[in-house]
Amino acid sequence: MEETGAHRLRQPLRLKTVDLLIREVMADDAAAVVAIFNPIIEAGAYTAFDAPFTVEAERSYIGTLPERAIFLVAERVADGVVVGFQSLEPFATYTRAFAHVGVLGTYVDLECRRQGVAGRLFQATFLAARAKAYEKLLTYIHADNAPALAAYLRQGFRVVGTAQPQAKGRGRVK
Ligand SMILES: CC(C)(COP(=O)(O)OP(=O)(O)OC[C@H]1O[C@@H](n2cnc3c(N)ncnc32)[C@H](O)[C@@H]1OP(=O)(O)O)[C@@H](O)C(=O)NCCC(=O)NCCS
Repeated sequence: MEETGAHRLRQPLRLKTVDLLIREVMADDAAAVVAIFNPIIEAGAYTAFDAPFTVEAERSYIGTLPERAIFLVAERVADGVVVGFQSLEPFATYTRAFAHVGVLGTYVDLECRRQGVAGRLFQATFLAARAKAYEKLLTYIHADNAPALAAYLRQGFRVVGTAQPQAKGRGRVK
């Protein structure tokens, strides 16, 4: 799926909203990131990642992000808890041909979904991506991951194809 550039910057009315601070990730966010990511990995349905991350591995990953990486977290203002994150990295670095293409991943705490967290992350990431000369964003979503498909379509992405069979795991071929 790829982004068309037609972003909707307007936030819709929601029954439940939450005040968020969107900021760059820090090494000390590693535990919070893993606390969001590992239950999503464990749930199985949403991501191709199939093994949990340790806090140490995540801290190391954050500490060695490439210069063109963008990694933002959504911190709930009320209590300072990180409730979601979004990361973007170059599609490939072996050629300059793809320098304008970024690959995006978005993860929101399973307990905090549908509160506009991803929407806020998208807005901030789009701005940061333009500043780093990205012109096109790409992501990979399981074909049966309806919430993610809806969230990305809402941001102006479009489905550019379905790879089959691609992801294997948990008894399923997707
Ligand atoms: C996909 C994901 C990031 C969305 O995060 P979110 O914070 O819940 O999304 P938002 O609240 O900003 O929702 C934005 C819009 O996306 C759509 N959407 C999100 N979840 C949806 C759902 N379960 N069903 C239908 N539409 C949904 C809606 O249009 C929604 O706007 P609305 O609430 O005003 O109707 C979140 O569900 C998630 O972390 N899923 C697990 C990880 C994953 O699948 N990541 C994608 C792979 S990179």
